[in-house]
Order: sequence, then C-alpha cells, then structure tokens
Amino acid sequence: MQKIINALNDRRQGARLGGGERRIDAQHQKGKLTARERIAVLLDPDSFEEYDMFVTHRARDFGMAETVIPGDGVVTGWGTINGRMVYVFSQDFTVFGGSLSETHAQKICKIMDLAVQNGAPLIGLNDSGGARIQEGVAALGGYAEVFWRNVQASGAIPQISVIMGPCAGGAVYSPAITDFIYMVKDTSYMYVTGPDVVKTVTSEIVTHEELGGASTHTRISSVADAAYDNDIETLLEVRRLVDFLPLSALDKVPVLDTNDTADRIEPSLDTLVPDLATRPYDMRELVLKLADEGEFLELQKDYAGNILTGFIRIEGSSVGIVANQPLVLAGCLDINASKKAARFIRFCDAFNIPIVTLVDVPGFLPGVAQEYGGIIKHGAKLLFAYAEATVPKVTIITRKAYGGAYDVMASKHIRADVNYAWPTAEIAVMGAKGASEILYRAELGDRDKIAQRTADYENRFANPFVAAERGFIDDVIAPRETRRRVARALRTLRNKRQAIPAKKHDNIPL
Ligand code: HXC
Repeated sequence: MQKIINALNDRRQGARLGGGERRIDAQHQKGKLTARERIAVLLDPDSFEEYDMFVTHRARDFGMAETVIPGDGVVTGWGTINGRMVYVFSQDFTVFGGSLSETHAQKICKIMDLAVQNGAPLIGLNDSGGARIQEGVAALGGYAEVFWRNVQASGAIPQISVIMGPCAGGAVYSPAITDFIYMVKDTSYMYVTGPDVVKTVTSEIVTHEELGGASTHTRISSVADAAYDNDIETLLEVRRLVDFLPLSALDKVPVLDTNDTADRIEPSLDTLVPDLATRPYDMRELVLKLADEGEFLELQKDYAGNILTGFIRIEGSSVGIVANQPLVLAGCLDINASKKAARFIRFCDAFNIPIVTLVDVPGFLPGVAQEYGGIIKHGAKLLFAYAEATVPKVTIITRKAYGGAYDVMASKHIRADVNYAWPTAEIAVMGAKGASEILYRAELGDRDKIAQRTADYENRFANPFVAAERGFIDDVIAPRETRRRVARALRTLRNKRQAIPAKKHDNIPL
C-alpha cells in the first residue's frame, strides 16, 4: 500500500510543478506568483481542495501528443475565505502560457457549475495567452462554454475576476461579464487586440501597458474596479471584498462582529457642509463617519470621481454606498458617473445588499459632449437601476438636490424607503440664481432686482422643508446623528418585501 501511496504522491508532486522549475523561475522574475502560490494567498490556510489535478489535454497536432502536462494549465477547486466557501480557478502561465484548451475550459466549467449549484462565489485568477493555438476551434468552443456559464451565473452568485498577467482577445469577455475585475499594476493587461494589431489597423503606436494596463482600465475605460501593486496585495483585497458579499443571491449579507456602536454621534458632521453653497467638501468624510470602524471599500475610485461607490458596514452588516462627490465636477451626474453607479446599484440589488445614497447634486452635467455621448440613455440607466432595486434604500440629502437629479438619486418617488435631509438641504428644480433668471427674464438688466428675486427663491426653496411638508422627506435630521438614524432605518427594513410585476426580464437602456 505504501508503494501505491508513494506513487500517488509522486504524481501529485509532478502535477504541482506545472511547466517546471525554469518557467516557475521566469514567473517569479516577472514579479508574479505561480497559480498555486496565488491560491495559497487567496484562501484560508489548508482550505483548498483541488479537483482535476490529473486532467490532461487531448490534442495530438503540432507535437502536442508529446507534451502532456497534468492539470493542463489551470488549477481548480474550492476553499474558504474567512471560513466561507468560494470556488476558484487559477490559470498556470507556466503550462502552455496558461492558454485555454478544451480540457482547461472543461475544468473551469466544472467548478462554475458547482459554484452555481452550491451557492458560492466564483473567483477566477486570469494569467493566460488566450486560446490554445494548437487546438483551434476546440479552444474557442471552450471559451464560449465559459462565457455562457458566466451569464447564467450572473446575479445568482458573485463572480470576481482577477487579472494577473495577460488577458487578451476574446478571453477578456469572461471577466467582462463578471461582477468585479481587479488588476495587478504593471504585470497585467487586458485588450481585445494587442499593440501590434492596433498598429497595423489604425497606425496607432501604443504599449501593452498604455493599451490595456491597470492604469488604463481603472482610470479611462472603467473596465477594472480596482488595481493594486502586486499579486499579494491584490489577492488580500479580494479576500476583503468577499467578506462584504453574500455567498449567493439566496444568501443573506454577512454580518461581522463590531465594537462600533450604531448610535455613535459625530459632532464634526454638523460643520461638514460649508456656509457658502458653492464651496465643495469631501463627501468621503461622511461615508467614513457612517461606516463601522471607518472602513470603506471603494470601487472604481479612479473613475468618475463625481460619484463614490463601494461597501461599508453598519451594525456589522454590508451596505452599498452611492454618494455624489462635490469635490469633482461639483458632484454633477454625467455619463460616466451614471454608468458607474447604475452597475453598482444593480449588483447590490441582485445580492440583497441595502443601498444608502448620499445626495449633493446640482444636476446633470450640461454640454454638447454629454448630449452627443447619450447622457439621456446613460442617465436613464441610473434612474432605472434605482427604480427597479427592491433592496432597502435609505437616502440622505446633505445639500443640493436639484432638478431631475433629485428624482434620480433615490428619491421617495422612485421608491426609496426612508429619505432624510440635513437642515442644509436645498431641494428645488434648479439653483436660485438660474431659476430667477428664467422666471424674471425681463428684469435681467436690473442686477438688484434679480438679486432680490434670487434671495426670495432661496428663502422659499433652498431648504428641505418644502419637500418635508409633502412627506417626500421623512425627517430633517441633525448631521451628527446620521449614523444612528441610518442604522435605525436599515433595522426597520431588514424584512422588507417588495413584489415586482410578472415579466421575463426588464429592458434597461443599455
Ligand atoms: C499555446 C501559448 C499561447 C497560446 C503562449 N503560449 N500563448 N501556447 N497557445 N495561446 C506559450 C508559448 O509558446 C510559451 O511556451 C509559453 O506559453 C510562454 O509564452 P511566451 O511567449 O514565452 O511568454 P511571454 O513572452 O510572457 O508572452 C506572453 C504572451 C505571448 C504575450 C501571451 O505568449 C503571446 O502573444 N501569446 C499568443 C497570444 C495569442 O495570440 N493568443 C490567442 C489570442 S486569440 P514555452 O514552451 O516556450 O514556455 C484568443 C481567442 C479567444 O485567445 C477567443 C474567445 C472567443
């Protein structure tokens, strides 16, 4: 028996070596961990159970019959993150450049099916040269099987993609369908066609990094949600993200122990909004003071800074934050901000995560570029996402809530559950000056008269009470009490149930 066990161990040992020492060294020299080392960082110690370690490809052309490596370039299985189950695949660049063969795809599909069946997140660590060139259409078919499963799993289980090396061609479309994409700075890139093809077709000269590096995708394209300096930091951040998420759409949000009391008072919030209405302030300060222990996991932080999105906890329970940021573009809604927030809201709604919205918005950003870019359609995404979301929704208006943006930003009218305003709130069709200039166009030549009209309009509308008188605002609250009031509101909404009309699916303006 011992002999048999030894033989098994030898086989395992061989499989664990992947493409061999030389290629492992090359991987390390690029500053990258191997597929197995990454899993060890991502999962709790000794929690990983590997499947399909002995699977090999079935290709025979191009000398492939002589190069058969157990595992076939991807390590798959399940393990735990802080005790909670996740399924993982980790592409092994040391084996045929992590390229995807028919059997490599089958291994990924197997754990995708299990993740959906057993209700656990799927985490993909991508490091691959794309479709296995020697296999042709068998590899392409394999990709499509993965894509199809990504779509079926969407909204059923959280799917997280981590880009830790090349991810090119059609291969990018699996991560693109998943809920979150994290990248590693300098060592990962994603693009549909690489620099050489770009040069041939459009004569543009661009590096891998410029075309598809982490900086491009977190700042310009918004394809990636976050990027970190190296493999270890990135994987630890994925662990942190998973801690905020339910395991599936049928699971409740996780609740973590906290020593932070829900009724913590924050006197400094009373002076957060400056006296001068046009002066910006950092909305992130309110987010941090609302959050348990000041922890905010911000997503897409380098993109559309005029809106903040991310997770906090209140009373230990995950909450999605959407907040206008007056520091950037005065907190206006534009195309990018609308898309960013809409997608985040839809994730929260799919996975039962309550949404707290912090509002200080002067309106939609005016301009030809915005109109030509389709702000009508993109702004509608945000409106649509809020209106369709049935999770608990709590809204705080800190200052401006003007025009259509008032309606869009989780107003009572589109079914937010609890709407509070600070005494500094101004809820109106537009700012007082703009309003007076339209209403009293004939008096435009007379500055004093217009100033008087502006002051009158301000007195009438630049406050939360007109809305509160109609019940559109449930209460006007002291800024210092915001955390306590939000926590109590969320508590009342824990068992919220809201039916939706029978339909196949909605038709969000894409
Ligand atoms: C088979 C591959 C491979 C692939 C790399 N390798 N990509 N083997 N199929 N797609 C192998 C190499 O032969 C090499 O083997 C090892 O992986 C490492 O590759 P290197 O080129 O030495 O590494 P590096 O210099 O780091 O360059 C990495 C790379 C490059 C940029 C990814 O390998 C590359 O350009 N590969 C081809 C990428 C590509 O065009 N893929 C198809 C895209 S189309 P040895 O034995 O020397 O270690 C696609 C369609 C998907 O993916 C469609 C879905 C719908």
